Amino acid sequence: MHSESAQAPRLEKAVAYVKSQTSVAPEVGLVLGSGLGGYADTLGDRVVLPFAQVPGMPVSRVVGHAGNLVLGTVASGALRVAAMQGRVHLYEGHPVADVVFGVRLMIALGAKTILVTNAAGGISEGMVAGDLMLLEDHLNMTAQSPLTGTNESALGVRFPDMTRAYDPALGALADEVAAAQGFKLLRGVYAGMLGPQYETPAEVRMLRTLGAHAVGMSTVLETIAARHMGARVLGFSCITNVAAGLSKETLNHAEVTDTAERVKGRFMALLEGVLVGIAAGRGVAA
Ligand code: HPA
Repeated sequence: MHSESAQAPRLEKAVAYVKSQTSVAPEVGLVLGSGLGGYADTLGDRVVLPFAQVPGMPVSRVVGHAGNLVLGTVASGALRVAAMQGRVHLYEGHPVADVVFGVRLMIALGAKTILVTNAAGGISEGMVAGDLMLLEDHLNMTAQSPLTGTNESALGVRFPDMTRAYDPALGALADEVAAAQGFKLLRGVYAGMLGPQYETPAEVRMLRTLGAHAVGMSTVLETIAARHMGARVLGFSCITNVAAGLSKETLNHAEVTDTAERVKGRFMALLEGVLVGIAAGRGVAA
């Protein structure tokens, strides 16, 4: 059997475990990237399942990144959500099926919408650390896909459309929420790289030429898996730094985590606002 196949039985086991722990069937799944994990602590009726206890769920090998799957509610119980506090990345050496397993699990549990967040370097002119960007589209620069191997028709079709990988109606809702909260949400194309090294200045110039506005090391594979399963995707980048070569500075991880920490209040308010909007029936195509 091909290593990328047989996700359906693996998912069934994980679904059975989660259902044995909580009756919350999520409508929305959240992937909480750098600095945002604390959002899951604000959920109502919370059930916290360490990744290590969920059968099949990969656990990050990065120290201090032990993750949880948190199930709970938003908007005083009006919306049921699942949240991944942390994720595993391709650069850690995990197989691509593991990288997307959490997203597939949240969808298998019932989520019809995936809200994915990340930290990214800003490529567009004028971007500054602390900006928030709505993902309009992506460039998958990892040279991998979660869909290689025998297609599992129980999950989705062989050749899924990626025309509207990021849902326009959810994006419009996010714009309205940001405007109501008094800040400008940028929009752009996210380039997903393998990492873990940051880009060279030449790579950043290449990505700009290719049409990217921000660059990071996650998200694109999760979006592909979510679209394969028919979920709608909303994506946000926290621009934690100006991409390599575009400023006089060199890059370091502390700058990324410091900015994510500084922006997390506004980022969490945006997430909350969007989820409250979804609970109220907004973010659906007219
Ligand atoms: N490049 C890639 N990934 C990132 C960056 C970057 O500049 N900043 C945060 N994640």
